[in-house]
Amino acid sequence: MRNVTLDTVTDAVIGSLGKFGEIDDRQREIMTSLVTHLHGFVRDVNLTHAEFLAACDYLARAGQLTNDKRQEFILLGDILGVEVLVDMLSNPVSGNESESTVLGPFYRENPPVLPKGASTIQKHFDGEETVYVEGYIRDADGNPVAGATIDIWEDAPNGLYENHDPDQPDFNLRGRFETDENGHYALIALRPVPYPIPEDETAGELLHYMGHHPNRPGHLHFIISKDGYRPLITQIYDADSDWLDNDSVFAVKESLIGKFEPAPAGSDTDLVLRFDFVLSEAQAARMQAAE
Ligand SMILES: [Fe+2]
Repeated sequence: MRNVTLDTVTDAVIGSLGKFGEIDDRQREIMTSLVTHLHGFVRDVNLTHAEFLAACDYLARAGQLTNDKRQEFILLGDILGVEVLVDMLSNPVSGNESESTVLGPFYRENPPVLPKGASTIQKHFDGEETVYVEGYIRDADGNPVAGATIDIWEDAPNGLYENHDPDQPDFNLRGRFETDENGHYALIALRPVPYPIPEDETAGELLHYMGHHPNRPGHLHFIISKDGYRPLITQIYDADSDWLDNDSVFAVKESLIGKFEPAPAGSDTDLVLRFDFVLSEAQAARMQAAE
């Protein structure tokens, strides 16, 4: 096409897809939609050349910031609500299964394996509140899921995850537990506190451009896995925390809010949190059952 105009440029780009190299159906679907929406966005806001150059510079700086400790594009995707949207599309909930939510950037693989009821606390903080966390993991029919693996991680009372805080012991407030024959799990942890996502550099620029704050409500992270079930990546939110109604990454769901209650007198902890989960069967298991 030699005479590209305002009216024809979008079709020209879409029409060029796969002309000089093989592309599959998914590539065609993604690129057709991307070009359609991107051109639509540019037309909607009547993007100026100066704004286009500023956007290129912004993305270049985000790329330069990304390293093994900070993945700036995940952060930008979180601030824009994209990670939670992808998670909801990938893990639809159709029945009584527990809802998933974002993994976030602070998970570490292979946390310490701990026995049921053990504590993840390796360091104490002024003003901390200890909590006994327990509950049952079941399938959609209410049967206990025995031998499920539970990875848990959270921030310390100073708002930092241990891998971003040189003053915390390695793997502090992280652990891997297993459910017993009744599907029951239990552990001791600290009450999680709200914390700000990184608000410097390009993430901060985006937050400020959107007129947002960086804070997340207090939450405990969970990954629950067992062969035959879809892994559940989720978070439990403290019902009494600030920021529940305006989480900076839009990941709060009503069904994931838990109440931290005062522990009965004589308990080893200050608080108790009871929270049950329902796992979905893995896709393959579901298809087999339907046959
Ligand atoms: Fe978190």
